[in-house]
Amino acid sequence: MGTLQGRDLLSLADLSTAEIRELLHLAAEMKAGKVNYRCDRVLGLLFYKASTRTRVSFSVAMYQLGGQVIDLNVDSTQVSRGEPLADTARVLDRYLDVLAIRTFDHQDLQTFADYAAIPIINALTDLEHPCQILADLLTIQEAFGDVSGLTLTYLGDGNNVAHSLLLGCALMGMNINVATPKGYQPDAKIVAQAKAIAGDRTQVIITDDPKMAVKDAAVLYTDVWASMGQENLADARIPIFQPYQINDELLELANTEAIVLHCLPAHREEEITDSVMEGKQSRVWDQAENRMHAQKALLASLLGST
Ligand code: CP
Ligand code: NVA
Repeated sequence: MGTLQGRDLLSLADLSTAEIRELLHLAAEMKAGKVNYRCDRVLGLLFYKASTRTRVSFSVAMYQLGGQVIDLNVDSTQVSRGEPLADTARVLDRYLDVLAIRTFDHQDLQTFADYAAIPIINALTDLEHPCQILADLLTIQEAFGDVSGLTLTYLGDGNNVAHSLLLGCALMGMNINVATPKGYQPDAKIVAQAKAIAGDRTQVIITDDPKMAVKDAAVLYTDVWASMGQENLADARIPIFQPYQINDELLELANTEAIVLHCLPAHREEEITDSVMEGKQSRVWDQAENRMHAQKALLASLLGST
């Protein structure tokens, strides 16, 4: 523990393959109750967007480690009145031991990291959601033993969750197929980064063909069609994204052993049907639980022992 001491986690690619493997191992040990680790530190949560899982799982993880949490509502801080982020970052750095931030612009997260010496954790930006993917990898590992060599198919909007999945799969030796409507593909720079990491070991495929994408998939994954901040686009997107819905028909085209993941919150009968979400191949509740175990391991590794 303490291997990542003092580091930031802004992108999943801030971690090496070995570091992710170590975190997953520690998370599994913590989940099994084999590691009893104490960390008497203070975590700040600075969230500009709504959250259920990330907020609660980070809080419970920190309490279970013996630490404290300060849940900072942006509206009640001076940030909402225009205090420069560089100033807020330098002040919070003097009080807290670690800070998890959920915001829109990834550059704002980078500003916090530039001005604060404490570890800064990406709790979701419009570009990435690395903590989610650590939990996803733990869930896939639990289902299949080893993640390497598996194929994950992501269907839907090519944004934050898809970006971190691209990087996570490439780092872990998994093939990834991302199926999106034209115009909703993932960021070209992230795709290039994932391809560079994957090299010729695994495949990174970006397509607009959902049926081709799910063939041979061990994991089917989806996310909302309109992310936070895009609520006004939600209705218009429904017909565009409809062919990418995870339903029983599409699931039949994947491996018979395939599992289904969704980062949640879900819009049932939009990106995923009720039948698949509640079906025997769904692992979404384990996946949500694993947010807590993966982040507990992350906090322990970033903070070291006290
Ligand atoms: N998956 C996820 O990040 O959920 P919340 O928005 O509820 O934190
Ligand atoms: N893509 C979603 C993920 C929520 C966890 C969003 O950004 O709202």
